[in-house]
Amino acid sequence: MSIQPHGGKLVYSYNPDASLENLEKEIQLDAIALSDLELIGIGAYSPIEGFFSKEDYESVVEKMRLASGIVWSIPIALPVTEDVAATLTIGEKAKLVFDGEVYGLIEISDIYSPDKNVEALLVYGTNDINHPGVKKLFDRPNTYVGGKTTLIKKAPKQFPAFTFEPKETRAIFEEKGWNTIVGFQTRNPVHRAHEYIQKIALEIVDGLFLNPLVGETKSDDISAEIRMESYQVLLDKYYPKERVQLGVFLAAMRYAGPREAIFHALVRKNYGCTHFIVGRDHAGVGDYYGTYDAQKIFEQFAPEEIGITPLKFEHSFYCTACEGMATTKTCPHDASSRVILSGTKVREMLRSGQIPPSTFSRKEVVEVLIKGLRQEVHS
Ligand code: ADX
Repeated sequence: MSIQPHGGKLVYSYNPDASLENLEKEIQLDAIALSDLELIGIGAYSPIEGFFSKEDYESVVEKMRLASGIVWSIPIALPVTEDVAATLTIGEKAKLVFDGEVYGLIEISDIYSPDKNVEALLVYGTNDINHPGVKKLFDRPNTYVGGKTTLIKKAPKQFPAFTFEPKETRAIFEEKGWNTIVGFQTRNPVHRAHEYIQKIALEIVDGLFLNPLVGETKSDDISAEIRMESYQVLLDKYYPKERVQLGVFLAAMRYAGPREAIFHALVRKNYGCTHFIVGRDHAGVGDYYGTYDAQKIFEQFAPEEIGITPLKFEHSFYCTACEGMATTKTCPHDASSRVILSGTKVREMLRSGQIPPSTFSRKEVVEVLIKGLRQEVHS
């Protein structure tokens, strides 16, 4: 029996034949809202059925729960400008449009002005606009529209062979005979530390769902295209094929650290995962969050309210004295023996053609990254 979706029922509101007759009002989506619309429609955000009402929004911001009491940590909002808001009426339907095409419709139940300062402080833990998630929050328009949505068109897929809906991943896991599945979120190439914690998890569960995020990320993160190539090279060479499934996660990165870790875990439950890896500074950026804050936040909820089991890992690294991968839990040596490079440092090295040590990243992965980044520079 596969794991219950969050809230008990997998939402599915894709209807390419939904009628657009007599619908005059239009709301333009940005890339984040476009991906959220699809993720709502395919049930990845179950039990959420549309963009947040004021009640759900305030409840999630303040209490990390939907108005129904179900745990949810990140607001799923549809921001519009005041001018657009003035054309909309509660109770009406509006088309949801991106790049001239209709992707969905919304039954407008709410139009409200969020207190973004409160949202920033409570969801991101800071209102510093140098934080990329906070900057995005303030850059988006200032009125939110709430209401149930219908997904009419799915966005063209960058990685069609690796794009699955929750009902599809659930079927895949079942077909493979996996009862326990660990989900792995990443916005980075898979380095030795990631591989180490994934493989420790694989020692205790049946399968790994490597689920890299390919939605909007900040500009200096490595592009999804390059990362996807690196994952495939790595999986081919170093992972048992029958125990890993690669599939992309279409959401935008929020960089909300602890709050995003809860969100990432709940969504992976909807995809059918029973376990979820939370390592050091999950979904963090800069120094905004403590190294293990994204693990500690799970303690605020009863395990059954989350439903998916977090697998918490200490900071892992290669230790030259241990001559192997280790964590602060297992290695007695000091920092001078540990190969630790920050994401920023590695990106700088790769962009200047410097090769990070194979104790940090497999050489096959590094080759793909250097080649990809060179091509990006030249294109
Ligand atoms: S994330 O922003 O998408 O979460 P990233 O791709 O860096 O970031 O990390 C993916 C997962 O691996 C997260 O759960 C993160 O906490 C974990 N992780 C990354 N690096 C390490 C490390 N050196 N040791 C332990 N866990 C790590």
